[in-house]
Amino acid sequence: MRISTAWRNVSSQVSTGVCAVLFIAQLSAADSPRERLSLDAGWKFHLGDDWPDALHLENSGTGSGPASERFTDSYWRVVNLPHDWAVELPFDPTADGSHGFKALGKNFPTNSIAWYRRAFELPAADSGKHVWLTFDGVFRDATVWINGWCVRHHEGGYYPFREDITDVLHFGGTNTISVRVDATKSEGWFYEGAGIYRHVWLDTTAPVAIAPDGIFVCFKFNNDVPADKVEIHVEANLLNALTNAAIAVVNCEIISPEGKLLKPFSKSQTLLRQSKGAVGLESKLSSPALWSPESPKLYKLVTTVSVAGKIADQSEMCFGIRTVGFDPTNGFLLNGRHCELYGTCNHQDHAGVGAAIPDALQEFRVKKLKEFGCNAIRTSHNPPTPELLDVCDRLGLLIMDESRLMGSDSENMKKWDDQIRRDRNHPCVVIWNIANEQFAVQDTPQAANVARSMQDYVKQLDPTRPVTYASPEGNVFRGINSVIEVRGWNYHYGPDMDRYHAEHPNQPNVGTEQASVVGTRGIYTNDGPRGYVAAYDVVWPGWTTTAESWWSFFADRPWLSGAFIWTGFDYRGEPTPYSWPCINSHFGVLDTCGFPKDAFYYYKSWWTTNTVLHVLPHWNWPAREGQEILVQAFSNCKQVELFLNGASLGRQTMKPNSKLSWQVKYAPGTLRAKGFDGAGNVIAETQVETTGNAARLQLTPDRKTINADGEDVAVFTVAALDAQGRVVPVAQNRIDFTAEGAGRIIGVGNGDPSCHEPDVFIPHVPERNLAVSDWRWQLAKVPHDSSTVLEYANDFNDAAWNTLNAKTSGGELTIKTPDTTAIYRAHLTLTDEDLSGSGVEICFSGCDDEGWYFVNGQFVGESHDWQAQPIFDIRKCVHAGDNVIAVGVNNGFGQGGLNPNVSVKVIGKASTPRWSRSLFNGLAQIIVQSTREPGEFRLTAGSGDLKPVTAVVHTQPCPPPPAVP
Ligand code: GAL
Repeated sequence: MRISTAWRNVSSQVSTGVCAVLFIAQLSAADSPRERLSLDAGWKFHLGDDWPDALHLENSGTGSGPASERFTDSYWRVVNLPHDWAVELPFDPTADGSHGFKALGKNFPTNSIAWYRRAFELPAADSGKHVWLTFDGVFRDATVWINGWCVRHHEGGYYPFREDITDVLHFGGTNTISVRVDATKSEGWFYEGAGIYRHVWLDTTAPVAIAPDGIFVCFKFNNDVPADKVEIHVEANLLNALTNAAIAVVNCEIISPEGKLLKPFSKSQTLLRQSKGAVGLESKLSSPALWSPESPKLYKLVTTVSVAGKIADQSEMCFGIRTVGFDPTNGFLLNGRHCELYGTCNHQDHAGVGAAIPDALQEFRVKKLKEFGCNAIRTSHNPPTPELLDVCDRLGLLIMDESRLMGSDSENMKKWDDQIRRDRNHPCVVIWNIANEQFAVQDTPQAANVARSMQDYVKQLDPTRPVTYASPEGNVFRGINSVIEVRGWNYHYGPDMDRYHAEHPNQPNVGTEQASVVGTRGIYTNDGPRGYVAAYDVVWPGWTTTAESWWSFFADRPWLSGAFIWTGFDYRGEPTPYSWPCINSHFGVLDTCGFPKDAFYYYKSWWTTNTVLHVLPHWNWPAREGQEILVQAFSNCKQVELFLNGASLGRQTMKPNSKLSWQVKYAPGTLRAKGFDGAGNVIAETQVETTGNAARLQLTPDRKTINADGEDVAVFTVAALDAQGRVVPVAQNRIDFTAEGAGRIIGVGNGDPSCHEPDVFIPHVPERNLAVSDWRWQLAKVPHDSSTVLEYANDFNDAAWNTLNAKTSGGELTIKTPDTTAIYRAHLTLTDEDLSGSGVEICFSGCDDEGWYFVNGQFVGESHDWQAQPIFDIRKCVHAGDNVIAVGVNNGFGQGGLNPNVSVKVIGKASTPRWSRSLFNGLAQIIVQSTREPGEFRLTAGSGDLKPVTAVVHTQPCPPPPAVP
């Protein structure tokens, strides 16, 4: 029995003081027909476009190959979502560098299209309900079949799409979802992944229900300044699929951040037959708890829809109460006060997993950004994964929510609509961004029109947030810049900006993209051949600038609102300033794993109130004794003094938003720095030391306990230490990993922008094809059921039957007469070795019109479509030696017969992948996902002479999210 979980989160967060009230609500809520089930686990996956004709446009419900519900996928690899197959592909110097040199795209057709399949049961009791299938994001061109019916074709790798699939479902039976994903074309100029890389959901609702993303909550303070009273507005968009009108009563309950149930409010509305309707409700709250990055207080809204006294639907969502505004003079205002945006732009890409980022890894990434003071993310250049927004709501990061493409055509506006409706309840979202750098059109009147249309549309769906455009121009007030509410600035700082501000004093501003210095973690000399850039704040591409330059300029001008630097994390692709062998970008403050580069400490110095003192580079330069080395201090201390092996190299005064430099003659030992406050007191000390060689490994998980829900992840750092326990900053040892117990490794990385080692290790399954020939056939009586007839039996003597030439595809084979049946037989010899692998499949290339298939007298399946190319799993029916294949065929009309191109695929044993990764400058990362077993898992890392080291993570009992079985 499946249980409605709508109340689970609410009740777990509600204090006992309100239990009595909630108990009543819970009882009735259990009757809510809405059910949201995860469809992430247990997909079958096949890489390759082996069935290019699967989509049939001539008739409905006739998908063939994997699009057919009868297709056998038993030996396809099992994957869980989110899944990105691009990360599994090799690097190739001939591939597109801006996408990370992955062997994907038009020059790699066999790697660029893949199939996913998933079967699921639906209880007969669900008949009469509506069932919705939602994909949060598929990269990129997805065609979806349900039970052979093509229900959706969706392009656009970053937008969610959903379909009401009720009509084509088997209630009380098995249903099959088939998805063909074509990642041949790209959308961006950066790594984008490939496959179903976000979550998939199955939602069941009653015929009267809340529309998808149908609740909008907003609030209003007098004059938009937070005060003691706030008006709450709820808009509930409803659907009535009944053939009669229904009176819907909408009841809203708000639960405070402390778990207090506040006064409910409700309203009723008549919904006409088979129609949509919106209900507006209003209430007031006193002394609201405000949401902010420092204190991200979340309320909960539970909306219940009843018809004729029975609950028809219920939804639950979080919201936060805060005001946002962009002011031409005071910049970004949160809750009425200036709030500097310490922002980072980020792509959705992490070491090991690519674009398929588990929810727990989203949280890991957000926490890493917070460590250096980042308080805002621009989801460049696409709508985000919803779970990223959930994390930012909870942890208090602000979001600039960006569209993928600018356009006011109906298709683009539908996507824009979907994006806004989906994201508009998240308090973290503070501004919408219509597009990035539209060089070709941005100054034209047409682009101004399109921008205006997109902006105006926002006002209809979300009057609470402003709109910007990431403009790469200077003092230019044409086209988009002339109509956009908040002027965005990509890579411009200096007098141009001041002039623009003076000439357009009523337009607010925001730095949509700034910096971007390039640097490789732990590298201090540029190295073109290896693709490394020195990590001092000194190397930047022509269109960008250093951290110190842009930030010093912005820090002095609150009207600019702060900015989003390019980027928080390194990402695959855009290997600026290099190309192959470099495969990922160097822009990040953090590398692809989230290991900090030195720039981390520059930003932490000026974006946080913590005392920071960081000295670079490392101090392992054996070949450079006596040579000068640039030493820098990133710090917010008033003065910093540097010492080499105890001798002072001078004390320097730090200018605000700056950094300090010394040229130091290298001698091994200790480089020490002391930081002073304005009164000359030492407030910070740090040192870098010349280390010995790697003597042992250290393995550290980011968390000691994770949830045993099959989704949570622990992120391990493996480091090489010298005999004194210091991280060896130049160690590159190759490390092997094994996981035992309730966890499985899902990806490894090391932040090296030129590393071509695999991020994932997938099992290799050897396959061999055997041709099935020597077919004989005879017209014979074939019943339309699977009952055995004499001619299917192994011992039947077919010697007198007609022979067939397997290479002939017409003539001999055809039955020719309409409404006539025939039987076909062939022999297949298998060896013990053939049977020692994991499976045997038989693949037919066509049967005109209907076929019933038998192996050694046992029925293995049927086909009813002359274009189908049925595949059957015959492992259980075959043995070593002679096997008989028999097919009964019915020719309805036309020629008719069995296509003789029949083959048998012998599938070997899957190899057990051995995981490994080299350290890059001392560090590597391993991401381990829990299974659903509570207990623990042990990760062991070993390398050559270094003793293996094991770390244990506990997996605590945790009900997995409600999922389709
Ligand atoms: C910007 C662009 C980003 C990235 C960056 C590299 O112009 O918006 O997507 O390409 O340049 O510096």
